[in-house]
Amino acid sequence: MSKDYNKYFIKPSIKDARKRINNDTQTIDFNEYFNIKGFGEGKTYALETFGCQGNEADSETISGILESLKFKKSDSLEHADLILLNTCAIRENAENRVFGELGRLKKYKRNNPDLILGVCGCMPQEEKVVEKIMKHVPQVDLVFGTHNIYKLPEYLETVILSKERVIEVYSEEGSIVENLPKIRENARKAWVNIMFGCDEFCTYCIVPYTRGKERSRDPKAIIDEVNELIAEGYQEVTLLGQNVNSYGRDFIDRSYSFANLLEDLSKLPIPRVRFTTSHPKDFDFKTVDVIAKGGNLMPYIHLPVQSGSNEVLKRMNRKYTRESYLELIHYIYESIPSVSITTDIIVAFPGETEAQFEETLDLVRQCHFEGAYTFIFSKREGTPAYHYEDLLTFEEKKSRLHKLNKVVNEGFYGGTKRFEGKIVDVLVDGVSKNNDKVLAGYTENNKLINFTGDQSLIGKIVKVKVTEAMTWFLRGELIE
Ligand code: 5AD
Ligand code: SF4
Repeated sequence: MSKDYNKYFIKPSIKDARKRINNDTQTIDFNEYFNIKGFGEGKTYALETFGCQGNEADSETISGILESLKFKKSDSLEHADLILLNTCAIRENAENRVFGELGRLKKYKRNNPDLILGVCGCMPQEEKVVEKIMKHVPQVDLVFGTHNIYKLPEYLETVILSKERVIEVYSEEGSIVENLPKIRENARKAWVNIMFGCDEFCTYCIVPYTRGKERSRDPKAIIDEVNELIAEGYQEVTLLGQNVNSYGRDFIDRSYSFANLLEDLSKLPIPRVRFTTSHPKDFDFKTVDVIAKGGNLMPYIHLPVQSGSNEVLKRMNRKYTRESYLELIHYIYESIPSVSITTDIIVAFPGETEAQFEETLDLVRQCHFEGAYTFIFSKREGTPAYHYEDLLTFEEKKSRLHKLNKVVNEGFYGGTKRFEGKIVDVLVDGVSKNNDKVLAGYTENNKLINFTGDQSLIGKIVKVKVTEAMTWFLRGELIE
């Protein structure tokens, strides 16, 4: 089946995505936009999600839209009538994985020509990806980006009923869409978007191009969503944004900030509030003071540092220094003594010298991080760092990553060890991956813990005594 695109054919442009227009963000109500029709009746879907929590949250919206069109979740890829890949563009290997998967999925299309194959998320926001899909994977029927998920009903109607191909990727972010349907993966823990996009333009990062201008949701919409989750029995929310600390910066009067939002959420009867991701430049002491009051604001902060060298931070356009980062870390430890801090680090950023890399190792030791996501710099076309001279061999880069991970793992272990013998509150997620007689959950400090207990405890917060610290997780005994 070869399809034409008559109606929908808009390709992305990284150049246009770089622009920031200072217009006011509009809010659309999904319910007013669509008259949902049940043309998915009798059809099944499979959705594969790659990348960050932002994509996981988007996939819950995609499932919500599909199920409101009466699609049902398929038990396998093989039997699905619609397969959608929600993709990640952050590093080259994430993209390679998606192209590998598309190669694998071609065979399903051969067996079932009516199968609809779609690609969405961050990768389609890059023009080179859309060109590659058109050239090498013409089996793909549907391509859309991060800004137009809400138009999925219209696209599917075109692909299914008019048998036309759809490629529609906007390079300028549009509105904030409220009241999107959602099928949440977890019945006790929920993602809550508080903002979209990013205006930081760190020189290595593709996100400001794939996710567009920073736009904050109205505080009332966020609080209403959390209240609905509470009514449904949710125990934990994680507030999502690329830089949550700049929440509200786009509001005209700018008087309501992230600290205000946390303060308001701390008054709601939900046991746990988390947030990610933070930017050291915008993480103000006022926010630390609010978290320090405790309550439902969890003592866990993910604070990506990226590098310990001022020279490298400058070339990354991070807009803070090693010294100001350390000052913030000290203030956090002083104010919230029980806190666990984790971070993100990029090694072998173009031009990073051995001495600058050593500065990162030294900073990691000083900060007592209890975990870190560590990455080798990956060149992203369209970003400034794509053009920076990159002289290290892959072996040298891997060696730096390996050295860094050794130091990071000491921190991981230190972070679990300090809880040995302590009693911790655990939100029980489910059974352990390796043994269904064992329960698994997370402590307030976001440590994975395994312990023996009845499955009726799933979804509850229980007290557990930590008996043994491993590098990546804790073992414990239920005490209540
Ligand atoms: N190369 C390697 N790591 C990157 N990250 C973002 N862009 C790149 C890139 N081009 C990392 C940063 C960020 C995390 C989500 O991914 O550390 O904090
Ligand atoms: Fe990327 Fe920097 Fe924005 Fe984070 S703050 S999403 S690293 S540009």
